[in-house]
Amino acid sequence: MKPNTSHIPFNLPYIHPDLPSFIKDVASSHNFFRNQGPFYQKIKQQLSQWIKHTNIFPTPSCTNALEIAAMVLDIKPGDEIILPSYTFSSTANAFVLRGAVLRFADVLPHFPSLDPLSVKQQITIRTKALVWVHYGGQATATKEILEICKKHNIVLIEDAAQAIGAYHNDTSLGTLGDLSAISFHETKNLGCAQGGALIVNNPIFLEKAMHHLQCGTNRHDFMGGKTSAYTWVNKGSNGILAEPLCAILSFHLEYLDEVNNRRRKLWHTYYQHLSPLADKNIQTGIADSGGNGHIFYLLFSNRKIRDQYKNKLIDKGIQTTTHYEPLHKSPFFSISQGRVVLPQTEKFGDGLLRLPLHHYLKDNEQMYLIEEIMRLSQSIN
Ligand SMILES: Cc1ncc(COP(=O)(O)O)c(C=O)c1O
Repeated sequence: MKPNTSHIPFNLPYIHPDLPSFIKDVASSHNFFRNQGPFYQKIKQQLSQWIKHTNIFPTPSCTNALEIAAMVLDIKPGDEIILPSYTFSSTANAFVLRGAVLRFADVLPHFPSLDPLSVKQQITIRTKALVWVHYGGQATATKEILEICKKHNIVLIEDAAQAIGAYHNDTSLGTLGDLSAISFHETKNLGCAQGGALIVNNPIFLEKAMHHLQCGTNRHDFMGGKTSAYTWVNKGSNGILAEPLCAILSFHLEYLDEVNNRRRKLWHTYYQHLSPLADKNIQTGIADSGGNGHIFYLLFSNRKIRDQYKNKLIDKGIQTTTHYEPLHKSPFFSISQGRVVLPQTEKFGDGLLRLPLHHYLKDNEQMYLIEEIMRLSQSIN
């Protein structure tokens, strides 16, 4: 049945109803403007319940966290990085900015995250790190990826941009790699308009990371009373999330379970009703109890059919969206680096369509959407 709304948006950023009064209460304090003030510290504590340690640093974005990770590894021109092509430009830029050579690995046939067999084919003596993107907040082929990194002594970086609050078995995503980056951008399950975090799981990188995050200085030693002044000790950037955004993020993090549970429920309803479309050559993602319900997608057999669905759904007031255009086919990469063929990645680039999934999507809107998709599947093929 058509819901009482003319438009179902693809996404609406989460805003807790008490946020405005909370901001009003805290904004008049000078602490609200302090660098690494009380809310910055509080986020570290809040996230440590999930990460199980406090080596987690709120950053201005996930992009920034990835760039700091590349600095921590001291990536130099000619170093090779293995990564998926089915990802956002930030995953690659962090390393390209330091002169790295990108070695794109293909994704799995049934899910757009790294295929361990393809990863193995990209390893050379110059391989410095593997960047593992948790598409839609789900980790796949986990055992194999961890084994490859261990066996070949490759540093593992998790691009957990979409994975806040997601698990693999009982382990939080973001704690599997040496370094990890998460996003609190408005498009993610929960956030502060724009923000991120760098997680340093491997203690050998901790001190360097703190220098790079603080403009290349040893400010943390000064703050901890270990030196009387701080000075320039390494290269660096400003990787500190501003305190007003920390305040918003800290307030929202209290509702992480509630937000993720609602999304998981919506995800499973989609899955239950739409996975039978496999009979019509329309695939869905894979069910995963540890996922955080970030993305629900349909995978069509080609771009033309995918776009037909997208346009027909817009006519019904339903906004859907495609996702990544593979980086290896992008103007920037293909002009400078030549031709790479990644069949599975191209399949997802051509066929994937994301359905509305956000905290404010009502049950009746979702059912309407599902009915419209089922109806379209009778006429488009
Ligand atoms: C896989 C991936 N990595 C990194 C980013 C960058 O995140 P941010 O917008 O927080 O910089 C995104 C953005 O959506 C992403 O999808």
